[in-house]
Amino acid sequence: MKVGVLGSGEVGQTIADGFLQRGHHVAIGSRTPEKLDDYVKRQRNMLLAGDFARVAKFGEILVLATKFRGTKSAIDLAGVENFDGKIVIDVTNPLKGGEGKSPELSIGFTDSAGETVQRWLPTARVVKAFNAVGSALMIDPEFVDGPPSMFIAGNDDEAKKTVSGIAESFGWDPVDCGPIERSRLLEPLAILWIQRGIATGKWHHAFKLLQR
Ligand SMILES: NC(=O)c1ccc[n+]([C@@H]2O[C@H](COP(=O)([O-])OP(=O)(O)OC[C@H]3O[C@@H](n4cnc5c(N)ncnc54)[C@H](OP(=O)(O)O)[C@@H]3O)[C@@H](O)[C@H]2O)c1
Repeated sequence: MKVGVLGSGEVGQTIADGFLQRGHHVAIGSRTPEKLDDYVKRQRNMLLAGDFARVAKFGEILVLATKFRGTKSAIDLAGVENFDGKIVIDVTNPLKGGEGKSPELSIGFTDSAGETVQRWLPTARVVKAFNAVGSALMIDPEFVDGPPSMFIAGNDDEAKKTVSGIAESFGWDPVDCGPIERSRLLEPLAILWIQRGIATGKWHHAFKLLQR
């Protein structure tokens, strides 16, 4: 599969690594792709870096791993037409607050980043996923109690099936939470995850849905 990862921070590189380790071809995007030269060299032949438009054209599946405040601009640079019909995994959280401030969401209750992204990309199949865990645990999370739950949301069932398969291959137990509006519930979960880290000083936790 050809995967385009828009965003080259901690999350973009971690998710790119996850796909590369599973044999996929990956392109990773930045406004200044040359800063990724060393990272790309370490990944041998399967990874290329490019601007957002090149990466969006390349990917059959796209991942949005941009700062939420820069996401609209990244989409505009990528070209909305390059998302047409594609699965877009939206990892973003609409965080506000700066260094030293308690993290909060800038959107919530009646809207979410996931829905906003779906409105910006009306012909794409947006699936919210991987947003409620730190990047260090996104790939191969190891817990004695087994795989943690990856809560996902989106309007397209086929797209959610594909993203569930990806989550499983990354070591997660996917849980379909319904349409993209459920991002209103998944994005606050990210705040809960961060607050737990702040309270305990440890960042090795994840959520699990228990059912019988
Ligand atoms: N860090 C985590 O553990 C974690 C976990 C779950 C979800 N998330 C969410 O995942 C997303 C990525 O997080 P991150 O920590 O990897 O990195 P980040 O620092 O939030 O974002 C990095 C990427 O955003 C792009 N960006 C920033 N401003 C932009 C603008 N004005 N226009 C276009 N692109 C812009 C940057 O592009 P350039 O390369 O061009 O600078 C960079 O590639 C965020 O929405 C975050 O809330 C993070």
